[in-house]
Amino acid sequence: MKTALVTGANKGIGREVARQLAGRGFHVLVGARNRDAGRKAAAEIAKEGGKVTFLEIDIADNGSVTAAAHEFAKIADQLDVLVNNAGIIVDGDDAILKISDELFRKTIETNTLGALRVTRAFAPLLAKSKAPRVINVSSGGGQLTGGADGWSPAYCISKTALNGVTSHLAAALPKFAINSVCPGWVRTDMGGRNATRSVEEGADTIVWLASDAPQELTGKFLRDRKEIPW
Ligand SMILES: NC(=O)c1ccc[n+]([C@@H]2O[C@H](COP(=O)([O-])OP(=O)(O)OC[C@H]3O[C@@H](n4cnc5c(N)ncnc54)[C@H](OP(=O)(O)O)[C@@H]3O)[C@@H](O)[C@H]2O)c1
Repeated sequence: MKTALVTGANKGIGREVARQLAGRGFHVLVGARNRDAGRKAAAEIAKEGGKVTFLEIDIADNGSVTAAAHEFAKIADQLDVLVNNAGIIVDGDDAILKISDELFRKTIETNTLGALRVTRAFAPLLAKSKAPRVINVSSGGGQLTGGADGWSPAYCISKTALNGVTSHLAAALPKFAINSVCPGWVRTDMGGRNATRSVEEGADTIVWLASDAPQELTGKFLRDRKEIPW
């Protein structure tokens, strides 16, 4: 049985990815910083069938991430798929010159460094897999091609930097498949109710990369199962 860890899996896209991977026979670790929300989501997903375990993990906190990796090693011998999904958007439509250093740091701490530190902590467990995969949930907002259009600069820049993390990790870990994904604009707490995509649609490319995509596909940025420019 393959194992998958999804961060921020108590709601939104992460929860849907966890649900679909459990349905595909993965032992899914539902990563969440909030114990109650994480346990509840794991129990609900398990009711639909499949092996699902809650794992407490706050990706913005080094101690929590290290503790989660230790806890994981008690639950399973190896990790096959890591979905770095957890993310925040704390800036609104303020122009880049109006955003404080503090807000930038907070955003990058979670969206960029969070994914890197979770990958670092779980790399030894991933290395035990025959075909380790890491999926970084990024955003079209982080795309540099075509230029920026000004919305939520801290969030968008954190995702541009996350794409840099993806590219560097792919170069450093050639046995791994490591990619960034833009899920599209998805109806979640973050995306809002006017978003154009369902969580099922938003999860599709992530689940594909976690399961059916070729292992040789690495170091890319994808949307709708196709490569897109950085
Ligand atoms: N929705 C969209 O339109 C859209 C578009 C492009 C990219 N994305 C990306 O897709 C991913 C999922 O977004 P979503 O729309 O599903 O958002 P969401 O519904 O707001 O869910 C975000 C998840 O991340 C978790 N999280 C935030 N900070 C965390 C931390 N420090 N440690 C652990 N978990 C943390 C949240 O936990 P709590 O419940 O505890 O806050 C929640 O589970 C994000 O990376 C986002 O940037 C979304």
